Amino acid sequence: MPSAGMTATDWFALLHPVLIILFVYPVVGATIRLGILARERRLDINPLPPTVGVEHADHGRWLTTGVVVAVLIAMAATYAMGSGGPAFPLLLAGAGCLASCLALWRAKGPMLRAGFALLCWFGLLGLGSQPALWHLGRSPLDGTVWGSHYWSGVLLCGLLLFAMAAAPETLRSPRMRRLHVSAAFLTALLLAVQAISGSRDLLGMALGG
Ligand code: HEM
Ligand code: HEM
Repeated sequence: MPSAGMTATDWFALLHPVLIILFVYPVVGATIRLGILARERRLDINPLPPTVGVEHADHGRWLTTGVVVAVLIAMAATYAMGSGGPAFPLLLAGAGCLASCLALWRAKGPMLRAGFALLCWFGLLGLGSQPALWHLGRSPLDGTVWGSHYWSGVLLCGLLLFAMAAAPETLRSPRMRRLHVSAAFLTALLLAVQAISGSRDLLGMALGG
């Protein structure tokens, strides 16, 4: 059995999928359900309290933060399994991503919210492009982008961070709400794509690929 030979690094690498499965996907289900209820309330289809919208946005914040944390853990695991290189600048950038995401919970002004969301997202993209984390087949030029767990993962992070940053506008403006709902379809699709490509990559590792 492969589990007999699991090293500490292997266990650490399992933390990303386990966190996503145990914490992120259940929150995804609740977020989508509450989003639909918020819509039904707004359209007067269903007499619900206004708290469904508030709960939806709260679940969305936990979802976004959970995904950012799980992605940072995946990157740390990739680093631990790789050929090394200086860890300190990467740790610093990772801490910066986490801090920007946490600052999004508090930030009030639109510029500040946009700034923290972009800082967090660029931080993730910057980290992923470091030589210590850069995999073969990650370049957008070599044709494997569509099947890549990494590229759809960072795109998904961007969409979630955008939804979190723009939540007050989504609440107020019909135009932003339409944009949010369109982006939400893509977000839900990418969440399904991540489950497929992530499991595929795990299977590849188990088979020694
Ligand atoms: C899979 C992810 C998501 C889906 C499927 C989704 C879906 C929806 C839907 C269907 C609505 C109702 C729109 C309407 O009234 O016509 C909505 C509203 C809203 N969403 Fe999301 N959403 C998602 C993620 C997020 C995230 C991450 C946030 C922010 C943290 C967020 C914040 C909001 C806000 C503030 C509203 C307005 C609520 C209200 O009218 O009371 N959503 N969303
Ligand atoms: C919200 C969903 C998910 C997102 C946003 C996401 C994102 C990511 C990212 C960005 C990486 C690259 C880290 C790096 O090496 O720099 C990664 C790695 C990985 N993820 Fe996920 N992931 C998700 C769900 C899953 C699931 C459900 C599984 C397995 C069941 C999984 C398994 C893996 C594995 C095995 C790796 C390391 C190998 C590789 O780069 O493909 N992920 N993930």
